[in-house]
Amino acid sequence: MAAALASLASLAALIVTLTVQPSTPPPPRRPDVPYVPMPDNLVMALLSLAQVTPRDVVYDLGSGDGRIPIAAAKMFGARAIGIEIESNLIRRSNEALAKAGVGALVTFLNQDLFESDISRATVVTLFLNPGVNQRLMPKLQHELRPGTRVVSLNFDMGDIWPADHVQDVDGLKMYLWTIR
Ligand SMILES: C[S@@+](CC[C@H](N)C(=O)[O-])C[C@H]1O[C@@H](n2cnc3c(N)ncnc32)[C@H](O)[C@@H]1O
Repeated sequence: MAAALASLASLAALIVTLTVQPSTPPPPRRPDVPYVPMPDNLVMALLSLAQVTPRDVVYDLGSGDGRIPIAAAKMFGARAIGIEIESNLIRRSNEALAKAGVGALVTFLNQDLFESDISRATVVTLFLNPGVNQRLMPKLQHELRPGTRVVSLNFDMGDIWPADHVQDVDGLKMYLWTIR
């Protein structure tokens, strides 16, 4: 009887604890790749390789300080979305966007690129690493519509998905795939 009362009391204590504890948000996921900004001339070269036009919707997966989406809007007239896991970089991107004067065309989302809905993209830009590119490959192939161009600076998708076109810029390689 004493044992039953004791376990009832600890159950009650547990319920009280669970009820009054504020719900804590899950810890933010760590970036898969560190922040390394792409030099501006390579941003232009990558967007040119993708032949971005004002009809495009450009998604930069891991958008850092927002320079690729902002350039896609400012220099090519495209709509653009930047997906970035680091909230401080989203803040910096929005500050840069306010100065760039293309706020109507660009949105930054504080999301994990593996969880984002990228189905509206007509162009996807990547500056990640080989392992992350290959983990991303099934998502790109399943979510993107035929005709969507994917461009990557420096990193390909291995033998499993050879690029349709490879270009050398300043001693670095840029890769282009078109979704079929
Ligand atoms: C090499 S930087 C490229 C930044 C930008 N695209 C550029 O070219 O200047 C990679 C970026 O991806 C972000 N990142 C890494 N893992 C991510 C994830 N799972 N989801 C969203 N962003 C991520 C990093 O925080 C970093 O800003």
